[in-house]
Amino acid sequence: MKVFSILLVALSFFTFSFNPCFSQEILNEKLDLMPWPKEITPNRNFTKLDENFTISMNQKGSRVYSAATKFLRNLANKTGVFINEGFPFYNRENATLSIVFKEVADLSINTDESYELVVENNKIELTANTDVGIVRGLSTLLQLIKSDGSNFVFEGFYIKDAPRFKWRGLMIDVSRHFQPVDLIKRNLDAMAFVKMNVFHWHLSDDQGFRIESKRYPKLHQLGSDGEYYTHEQIKDIVAYANNLGIRVIPEIDVPGHAAAILTAYPELGSNDTYNYSIVRNAGVFDPTLNPTKPEVYTFLDNLFKEVTPLFPDEYFHIGGDENEGKHWDANPEIQDFKKQHSLETNHDLQTYFNIKLEKILRKYGKKLVGWDEIRTPSMPKSAIIHSWRGKNEGFENGTLIPALKNGYHAILSNDYYIDRMLSVEHYYNCDPIANANLTKEEENRVLGGEVTMWSELVTPLTIDSRIWPRTAAIAERFWSPKHITNVENMRKRLKKVNHDLERIGLTHIRNIDVILRNISNNQDISALKTLSQISEPLKIYERNKDGIEYKTYSPFTLFADACSADAPDAYEFKKVVSAYKLNSNLSNTEKVLSFFNKWERGYFNFKQLHHSSNLVGLNSHYKNLTEVSVQLKKAIKSEKFSQKDKEKIDSLLTEIATPFVDVEIVIIDSLKSLSNHLNQKFGLK
Ligand code: ACM
Repeated sequence: MKVFSILLVALSFFTFSFNPCFSQEILNEKLDLMPWPKEITPNRNFTKLDENFTISMNQKGSRVYSAATKFLRNLANKTGVFINEGFPFYNRENATLSIVFKEVADLSINTDESYELVVENNKIELTANTDVGIVRGLSTLLQLIKSDGSNFVFEGFYIKDAPRFKWRGLMIDVSRHFQPVDLIKRNLDAMAFVKMNVFHWHLSDDQGFRIESKRYPKLHQLGSDGEYYTHEQIKDIVAYANNLGIRVIPEIDVPGHAAAILTAYPELGSNDTYNYSIVRNAGVFDPTLNPTKPEVYTFLDNLFKEVTPLFPDEYFHIGGDENEGKHWDANPEIQDFKKQHSLETNHDLQTYFNIKLEKILRKYGKKLVGWDEIRTPSMPKSAIIHSWRGKNEGFENGTLIPALKNGYHAILSNDYYIDRMLSVEHYYNCDPIANANLTKEEENRVLGGEVTMWSELVTPLTIDSRIWPRTAAIAERFWSPKHITNVENMRKRLKKVNHDLERIGLTHIRNIDVILRNISNNQDISALKTLSQISEPLKIYERNKDGIEYKTYSPFTLFADACSADAPDAYEFKKVVSAYKLNSNLSNTEKVLSFFNKWERGYFNFKQLHHSSNLVGLNSHYKNLTEVSVQLKKAIKSEKFSQKDKEKIDSLLTEIATPFVDVEIVIIDSLKSLSNHLNQKFGLK
């Protein structure tokens, strides 16, 4: 490319030094890109955005055409600029953005997603081997637009980018709670925005079978409560994803997690007297396909024959997890079968089943993916092991590393269970490879990772807020070089990306207000919002412990549903307390006091509300927090804070620290640390 050579000459005179850490620190402050690119070099140029902005593409290709068109809409919506030409041209000279790619990719695990992007003076070039690379590059370019005060400009950069991992997935469980087509599409848009490339669609489980079946219509008629995807809807979603360069991997989870299938076809089950019905709560249940019955394989063969053409990707996920085999143990015929076939354990029996499935899927051109449990010596190496139990043997035979050492390709989800509601920092710090003792070859068999959104506790109203924005940070872990690890900076960039995600259609921010309005019975929600900004839903499945409190049809419009995993004010408060402890100058003092004022005002407003049953559970914690705020504020202002004062605060903090309405207030440590500090500083006065 001519422009590249000019730029390279320019760069060789440019004295900015780029070791990876240095570049991250300097550039990260300047830019809000996520995921961070592999190589990025600033130049002193820029391209101004005005109404004459045009795009030219060198050849036809629906992925690029629609990505470029969406890019133009996003640009207009983000900046308010009325761009004259709302669609890309083909081979137009002097376009502002020139897109050049060599081929239209047939989407696969090996699709080349690399691209190069150069922003110069009023000229931008985006080049890639494939159209998918262009889609990825447009996503970067959209994040480069900035306001310089009076104009919007693309700042000058040379970016050469490619993913670290091939498999960067998001799994959405649509069985526990069904998720409609438009919701899936907006999440696909968000995935593309952060360069994720696999949508793993968990389509069947105990709580619902979500695919229309023409061959076995009772599956969707009796197994889905009427909430399922028709073939046309599936084709529509697969095509939509494909256009974004996202592969779709369907999962039909067998032989366990089969209550919905067996509700429709109980004769395929392992217990002839069991009353199979769709499960309404969370947990691991007994209904299991009977691997000794030939009809089971006929059923699966016919079902796969029917559904595999809907999903063009070469991989098909068969689940295979959490089969406790209770119905197998209780069935004498199954026990006899095991003896006849020299199958010692239930795991051996499941392997027998899996191997048959693998052959059936192979007949339909599919390779198999399955959760940890499918790994056995006889499983062909073409199968991908999807590790949900961890990297090392230990947590019930977690299998990532053993799978790699045994020659399998693998993907990791264990560290990316976002339904555990841990902080973004936790997930961001988990590397799919980390410091595991692997050979280069074994390391190369880590295909990547998948974020898992299990949907026991989410509905269409809340699912976006459980997936995003944390998934954007995980997407960076999957895409960006391993050394991109600065958490503080990630948080800074994520704040910006969070709003970008909202603009492109996610409801993760706005739906909080919807829930709070509902709880308050359409009163002023500011008091509830203030409390929600320091409260987080209970973590690691403490909410709905043992799976009994919530059913699939329970309300998910509670205060806990309006709180997110990274309470925004908690993080800010921690920072201002640390700063105040280091230096109690006027500015740092004001910042701490403003939080106390906010909570006091919040509780004052809370008391003005006409209370309903949904608000009762919030009162005592809010009141105690306000009391703590008043006392600490007084201590700061009067510079007095005796041991007795501190003890009073400590006792209130113990009360505030107890979980309530399925949430916990997450500023306790900061308050304690401030209280200790004030006591040390002013305690003797
Ligand atoms: C799983 O979480 N049972 C895959």
